[in-house]
Amino acid sequence: MSGPQKSSKRFAEVVAHPNIALAKYWGKRAGEGNVPATPSLSITLSGLSTRTRVTFDPNLREDKVTLGGRVLSGPAQRRVAFVLDEVRKDVVSPQFAEVSSENDFPTASGLASSASGFCALTLAAVTAAGLSWEQSRVADLARRTSASSARSFFSGFAELVPDGATARAAQIAPKDHLPLGVLVCVTTEEQKSVSSGDGMKRVAERSPFYAAWVEFAARSFKEMRGALLEKNTLRLGELVEENALAMHATGLPAGVIYLKPETLRVLETVRTLRASGVYAYATMDAGPHVKVLVLPDSNEAALAALTATPGVLRVISAEPGDGARVVAEGEA
Ligand code: ADP
Ligand code: DP6
Repeated sequence: MSGPQKSSKRFAEVVAHPNIALAKYWGKRAGEGNVPATPSLSITLSGLSTRTRVTFDPNLREDKVTLGGRVLSGPAQRRVAFVLDEVRKDVVSPQFAEVSSENDFPTASGLASSASGFCALTLAAVTAAGLSWEQSRVADLARRTSASSARSFFSGFAELVPDGATARAAQIAPKDHLPLGVLVCVTTEEQKSVSSGDGMKRVAERSPFYAAWVEFAARSFKEMRGALLEKNTLRLGELVEENALAMHATGLPAGVIYLKPETLRVLETVRTLRASGVYAYATMDAGPHVKVLVLPDSNEAALAALTATPGVLRVISAEPGDGARVVAEGEA
């Protein structure tokens, strides 16, 4: 018990950004603890944000959680309560909390709302509770809730590497390491029917390619990390697109198919751009959107071609951004 005793309401508000995986976490190690089966590498994105406020209140008789103004219930509420309960274990006089969160981009749609959401929630809860945890401890609690969220604590390029019964998140390179841009092609505003967690579970159980994916993913991560540090943008792009397609290919025989006709149309645009000498490489997570890596001299041509691709609702221009930060805290 290290938290100070409090009788008044205390709040903290955090802004965090989603991160997109260039080398994917897809699959969990056996056993408890939400440990990824594969190492992953990501870019934390500017341009998309989650803002979460947590207020511990001695007058509350239960937690109240809203996302986008709607009260959460069921599994979504329980994941939030797990974080709050872990934080409360370290507080002298635990209190229930009011949590309100907003994502300024589609939720549960493959744009990593769980990553920015659980990163923001965990940092806000620990801060509002007045706990002085190391960043690694905060990130580890977020990781146990949604593994990719541990990477959103860091600006620029981050990794999450399994290590025995846990996994460690760290920054690999700062946000100005490479002049990469990310064009996020939004193809639907709808939520997906299979969450990332359920999707990867089904793939591990049912895909004949799963073992090959896990082995490939470790090699791909290592080479990608090297290409990133060497600033070899061409090799980086090739590896990124290959990694995403391998992840999605692994899901096909298990019936875990996140790609839609619009996704394939965007992939076709990306290939056409490359054939005309424009730097553009695609990646997709557990959803139909396509995130396209571009460089300053390919940004304009790629943006025009992607915007004009049938099925693309809008294109969000993002770049390597900041890690999670507390924007306000104090007595409510
Ligand atoms: P995504 O591709 O958007 O990460 P997931 O299926 O992995 O989709 O996770 C989506 C789930 O994460 C939501 O259904 C909700 O339970 C949770 N979530 C998303 N954003 C937030 C948030 N800001 N605060 C708390 N939970 C969130
Ligand atoms: C395809 O981190 O959402 O985006 O740990 O079960 O919450 P849980 O899964 P989550 O999975 C992310 C999957 C991915 C790839 C990645 O971000 O590395």
